[in-house]
Amino acid sequence: MSKTLITNGTVVNSTGTALADVLVDGETIVAVLAPGSTLLGFDVAANVDAVIDAAGKYVIPGGIDAHTHMELPFGGTNASDTFETGTRAAAWGGTTSIVDFAVQRYGERVEDGLAAWHEKAAGNCAIDYGFHQIVGGVDADSLQAMRGLVDEGVSSYKLFMAYPGVFYSDDAQILRAMQVAREEGLLTMMHAENGPAIDVLAEQLVAQKKTSPYFHGIARAWQLEEEATHRAIMLADVTDAPLYVVHVSAKQAVGQLAWARDRGMNVFGETCPQYLYLSLEEQLGAVSEEWGDFEGAKWVCSTPLRAREDGHQHAMWNALRTNDLQMVSTDHCPFCMKGQKDLGLTDFRAIPNGIGSVEHRMDLMYQGVVTGEITLERWVELTSTTPARMFGMYGKKGVIQPGADADLVIYDPNGHTSIGLGKTHHMNMDYSAWEGYEIDGHVDTVISHGKVIVDDGEYLGAKGDGRFVKRGLSQYLI
Ligand code: URP
Ligand code: ZN
Ligand code: ZN
Ligand code: ZN
Repeated sequence: MSKTLITNGTVVNSTGTALADVLVDGETIVAVLAPGSTLLGFDVAANVDAVIDAAGKYVIPGGIDAHTHMELPFGGTNASDTFETGTRAAAWGGTTSIVDFAVQRYGERVEDGLAAWHEKAAGNCAIDYGFHQIVGGVDADSLQAMRGLVDEGVSSYKLFMAYPGVFYSDDAQILRAMQVAREEGLLTMMHAENGPAIDVLAEQLVAQKKTSPYFHGIARAWQLEEEATHRAIMLADVTDAPLYVVHVSAKQAVGQLAWARDRGMNVFGETCPQYLYLSLEEQLGAVSEEWGDFEGAKWVCSTPLRAREDGHQHAMWNALRTNDLQMVSTDHCPFCMKGQKDLGLTDFRAIPNGIGSVEHRMDLMYQGVVTGEITLERWVELTSTTPARMFGMYGKKGVIQPGADADLVIYDPNGHTSIGLGKTHHMNMDYSAWEGYEIDGHVDTVISHGKVIVDDGEYLGAKGDGRFVKRGLSQYLI
């Protein structure tokens, strides 16, 4: 088996940073050594097949994006990245594992949904992948099927308090699902927005001819995120089930999570780069020559981008620092403007919801280190270590230690990355939600299972490199 030594790098784990060499044997990390060390007189560097010099660079565990939607059928179309294109773009950006969502809808069997997603992904992925299960139709059959998920390596599932008629669950359904989750050790992931109330507000706005993307953000008011977050917490409390709230964007929703955690509950939350950087005013309210006030459709996602004048973005950074929020995923759900987003040209309700960011999460979050919002170790924790622990992959993933999968990224803090269409953009989209962002830092080398898949601006991997990760129970619960 081929042995590689990554020398002279600064190895960053969530627990600390050290100058160290990382020895990889085949697909696995076998040692983390003092730089240039010999092992009992044995010269390590002289006895490996390859040496990678990481002097002046960070060596970090590969990123784990625990919230993606490759080729999701949604809003009358399919998310534009396939498992092939989306995972390749992820690899370019230093992400070596994703957890995507298999889908079950009303009248469908959970087992069939999971099998269909296995079919879409198998043999097509550039990096490792796991699944959460969307249960979009809670009934006796799906509740029974949930009991088989842990054995399938699917230890988490998602419910929606939004999207009536699509994935929506009412309180009674949520309660029943949480009871099963409690018994089976499943982690409940919640899309916490009051969908029925949002739909009324949206209908009223459209009746007043307020049809542009900006009003997507007005209809999905922060009160309806806070309210749903609180309701989810109380349903979790009464069922004694752990709860993980996805794509948190309102500072008031973070307040609810902090309140629940202060009560000692197993309640967790993720946010996404869009909620840290982008806003209702600047993006949803944008106007361009090409699209007029439909420009904002590029950033229509749910939960929506929030008002900067209310300070939501800054509150999200604070919450990441104080651990009121535990991790950052992308909710990668890309749609092209032409032929997809433009379905909603005359009515924001018909714009497919989602933003593509899977390629940029590591870079965008590294900017928090540059600006002093988070530490280097917290960067690794938010993007890799906690996702691994939260979703039952830690030890193999999320850490540089002997026995872990050799999923590694060499990150150059002195490098530079220009984000945009035709620059670092490898996602299958006809625009970039991050056009013009200039990043301090650069993903130099990406290693998956010991194989270099990205190096110095070149993609060296292949479709099918990535494997299904059979996840265990969450390692994060108290
Ligand atoms: O706008 C979003 N978030 N699209 C993906 C589906 C979801 O709710 O996560
Ligand atoms: Zn959602
Ligand atoms: Zn999502
Ligand atoms: Zn570089």
